[in-house]
Amino acid sequence: MSIWSPTSWREKPILQQPTYPNKEKLNSVLSELKNYPPLVFAGEARTLKNQLGNVAQGRAFLLQGGDCAESFSEFHADNIRDTFKALMQMAVVMTYAGGLPVVKVGRLGGQFAKPRSSNTETLGDVTLDSYRGDIINGVEFTKEARVPDPERMIKAYNQAAATQNLLRAFASGGLADLHQVHKWTLDFAHQSEVSKKYEKLAEDIDRSLTFMEACGVTSKTYRTLRETDFYTSHEALLLPYEEAFTRKDSITGDWYDTSAHMLWIGDRTRQLDGAHVEFLRGVKNPIGVKAGPTMDPEDLVRLVQTLNPDNEAGRLNIIVRMGADKVGEGMPKLIRAIEREGMKVVWSCDPMHGNTIKSSNNYKTRPVDAILREMKQFFQVHRAEGTFGGGVHLEMTGKNVTECIGGTFTVTEEDLSSRYHTHCDPRLNADQALELAFLIADSLKEAQR
Ligand code: PEP
Ligand code: CO
Repeated sequence: MSIWSPTSWREKPILQQPTYPNKEKLNSVLSELKNYPPLVFAGEARTLKNQLGNVAQGRAFLLQGGDCAESFSEFHADNIRDTFKALMQMAVVMTYAGGLPVVKVGRLGGQFAKPRSSNTETLGDVTLDSYRGDIINGVEFTKEARVPDPERMIKAYNQAAATQNLLRAFASGGLADLHQVHKWTLDFAHQSEVSKKYEKLAEDIDRSLTFMEACGVTSKTYRTLRETDFYTSHEALLLPYEEAFTRKDSITGDWYDTSAHMLWIGDRTRQLDGAHVEFLRGVKNPIGVKAGPTMDPEDLVRLVQTLNPDNEAGRLNIIVRMGADKVGEGMPKLIRAIEREGMKVVWSCDPMHGNTIKSSNNYKTRPVDAILREMKQFFQVHRAEGTFGGGVHLEMTGKNVTECIGGTFTVTEEDLSSRYHTHCDPRLNADQALELAFLIADSLKEAQR
């Protein structure tokens, strides 16, 4: 294999990139970004890799979730806090009811660039370049907004820095304390069936905490009761930006992409000889690769050889996103090929991207039923194959949005228009996400039997 460098991806065919009209401005922004402080430290990425190693061996579960696309306009402390709380609620359900430690990774603090199925978007008789995420161009349907502007990378960096800073504060400053378990319920979700179920579980946890306190185990003495490890991730799509944050770790001499702890390759950019695979093969962060319905098992084997040549458990997360109707047939072939080669990977389920439909009133949506169905089959297939379904990858928010239909607090097609705020794909709201967490907890319990 040829020699890797942070710029070697530039020699490879690349998809899903903007064409910046002003190259000089692009280069000056990139040289500025190269001098900006990293957002994560290499040692943290190594700790995450170790924790994911436990997931690969069936001793922990990976919960990855957050926005489809972060946006400049929805940037607000309350949104970050609420997504954090929703993730904490899910994690505590999986830990307590599912009996496994949960590795928490937000799709936050850098999840800005979006791959698109089409280069253009047409409304009426106007056709414009597609929106590619706030780090690239604007979502407004005007010619000006759709021109890629390099300055947006600086704004995205600043927003990512502030977001990651707040997440760190939440994780270690008290919001993640298990004694706060009741306070993680989002205001809007108080009345639903699933939040009643959660309240019951929270009361059980309270009782256990009181008992433990009586035994001398308190959050003052045990860090894990009052703090949590919370990591960040995004799709490494906009490679000039990722290259600017690829730094040599002073301790090991290895290269890390310091824009997030974990990065992944999307389903549209996973070509073996392409730029995205070339870039991520050389950084030492834990990484992911999406596997859609067209993933060929032997191609997957070659991808894993390229991305995880040392067969490190915890280095590579295969994120399966086939859709509820395809996963039952498509995933066993992938698992068997990987098992045949003795490859150590983390298997995650993204039950979102294979289940996107258009509602009759023309919203891009996802039925919660299909999401639950894909998730259930993911666990069933792993059980049948004797492997461990170790993670979930979700588009979700702590806000009371109406973007996916169904769930116990039923959102109907008519409701979609009332709080449809996503800049890209429809997200689960906190209530729908919690419902999924209970289903996952049941499957984890079963898997351990
Ligand atoms: C995404 O995760 O937002 C995404 C675009 O996924 P995929 O690459 O699986 O389509
Ligand atoms: Co998406």
